[in-house]
Amino acid sequence: MKKNILYLLAFMILVSCGDDIPQGEKDNAFWLDQADLTAMQQDWSAAHANLSCDSNKLSIAGKSYDRGVGTHAVSKLMIDVHGSGERFKGAAGVDDECSEQASVEFFILGDEEILWQSGLMKVGYSAKSFDINISGIQKLALYVSDGGDYIHYDHADWVNVRITYHDSVPVLVHPYKARPYVLTPPPPKEPRINGPSVYGAGAGNQFLYRIPATGEKPIKFKVKGLPEGLNIYEESGLIRGKTPANGIYELSLIAENDYGKDEKKFRIIVGQGLALTPPMGWNSWNCWGLSVDQQKVKIAARAMEAIGLADHGWSYLNIDDGWEAAERTETGFLLANEKFPNMQQLATDIHNMGLKLGIYSSPGPTTCGGYLGSWEHELIDARTWAMWGIDYVKYDWCSYNDIAKDQSLPELKKPYIHFHEVLGQVDRDIVYSMCQYGRGDVWTWGEEVGGNLWRTTYDIVDTWSSMSGIGFRQGEYAAYAGPGHWNDPDMLVVGKVGWGPDLRESRLTPDEQYTHISLWALLSAPLLLGCDLAQMDAFTLNLLTNDEVLAVNQDALGKQATKVYDGIRYQVWAKELEDGSMAVGIFNIGKDTPIEAFNWTNDEQKLKITVGADQLGLTGIHKVRDLWRQQDIGTFEKTFGANVPHHGVVLLKLTPEE
Ligand code: GAL
Repeated sequence: MKKNILYLLAFMILVSCGDDIPQGEKDNAFWLDQADLTAMQQDWSAAHANLSCDSNKLSIAGKSYDRGVGTHAVSKLMIDVHGSGERFKGAAGVDDECSEQASVEFFILGDEEILWQSGLMKVGYSAKSFDINISGIQKLALYVSDGGDYIHYDHADWVNVRITYHDSVPVLVHPYKARPYVLTPPPPKEPRINGPSVYGAGAGNQFLYRIPATGEKPIKFKVKGLPEGLNIYEESGLIRGKTPANGIYELSLIAENDYGKDEKKFRIIVGQGLALTPPMGWNSWNCWGLSVDQQKVKIAARAMEAIGLADHGWSYLNIDDGWEAAERTETGFLLANEKFPNMQQLATDIHNMGLKLGIYSSPGPTTCGGYLGSWEHELIDARTWAMWGIDYVKYDWCSYNDIAKDQSLPELKKPYIHFHEVLGQVDRDIVYSMCQYGRGDVWTWGEEVGGNLWRTTYDIVDTWSSMSGIGFRQGEYAAYAGPGHWNDPDMLVVGKVGWGPDLRESRLTPDEQYTHISLWALLSAPLLLGCDLAQMDAFTLNLLTNDEVLAVNQDALGKQATKVYDGIRYQVWAKELEDGSMAVGIFNIGKDTPIEAFNWTNDEQKLKITVGADQLGLTGIHKVRDLWRQQDIGTFEKTFGANVPHHGVVLLKLTPEE
């Protein structure tokens, strides 16, 4: 009996101290907190040795730990143990610094098998310990999932993690980095007019459109059918002047150089709203965050022209949060802070390049970055921006929560209705971008309150889980998008991003970036670059200057793609185009399992995907064009097979054969 009690006591001690380091642990253990943690990939922030994600002492369910690694879901790490490991020990849990939204699951994998999993864990759950026999295993992997919801506050701690081994010291494996590869062929020397075939403007307002065209410079531009009040500048291709009366104006744009000539039909629609195709441009947030300044915007504008983005239809330069002065003037004006010495001059310079300038504010007293918002100064702000020459306003939500009585629909709509009325009182075309992250199913009423676009989601980050999670969810909102009113799945995360003064390469793989641009094109999503345009590498530039891909986005019909096939490993999306053809994206989404999150072999993984005519609702023979390669690749009648890289895409245009 006594013996039994002793055993029970010993057992209780073992269980309650399961996440402690037992006395006498062998010295030759490999401790994770002493390794080079840059090998750990995670969807937010970076892994910290012996500290939490927010750099606090590691703490799980009120118990603090001296040793371990603070990470953030989705988190991945592979360790090569060379078949020489003995045991893998430690514990895991959600850090106490998290809010209640946190939920994760920890997995330990060995040579493509799950060796241990924690089950769903939330803040306040005691750490779960593990002690696993790993003899014979070559590769161990640690994975933290987002627990099936989004990655919000998913601060996950691996504590007291160590490997005991025989001979070879375990080594952390740095993630396999696929090489960027270019698919878009360079444009020919002869002129090609790009961009949309329709453009909306408001009668009597200033008109500005730069004809985007590639081809050897100099190019001479002409326009047939130009209404009175508008002029074409032959050298630059800028159409400027005063917008004529309401109506539809059919024009022909002409571009000519030493190698040839191109002509394109172009409709100016006056009085039926703005943004008749999704806005394309740049926004400062995903690169510079609050460190944006006038010089950086100027540099972005110059780069947009110099590297040729403007020749493919990229035109907006949107200043996000961080431009506002600390106080209004006595008469209530909100001026720019010292980082923007002359906003009006900036607008003039940008307009002289044929480009457009955007700004940011919030309906609440302060913005998300803590700057002054437009609360109770909406009209004076709109007038100021019109005077400066602003062409686009992103109107956020932050701090309006304190003003709204509740989260009912009338309260959610109120500030946006009001600001739309205010925009109607200024004589300037200002695109209205609503940014309240999808509250109250904004897609169902965004058009009614006058929005040209509305964010359907929280902020994007440059990871596969964020980009694909947001992008592939957009099908549900397809019916609400159309010319002048678009769903906005947030800005692009290709190129050099950083949300602050220090930039880094996007963490999306090249294939994931092809998916990102293809999907946003199919979704008729606003295309706003969130990277430093002055530091753009050849791969990113190539990715953003494929006119056939951009034409899918800018198609005048304005129909958002829908998902026509939803599988575990792949999805097929289709978008009807104005000319009767169909753009089809075949996406290899990978299976969302912990095992498949790792590339165990370092081989390129391709998946053969077959799409049937019935899935697309097509009959008859269709010509198939590969849009990224800009090549005709055969015909399609009953089925089409494509080899699609892991997390990659094949983007096609199917045109009925006459
Ligand atoms: C967020 C918004 C971001 C950015 C930021 C500025 O609410 O989603 O895109 O504008 O505010 O503080």
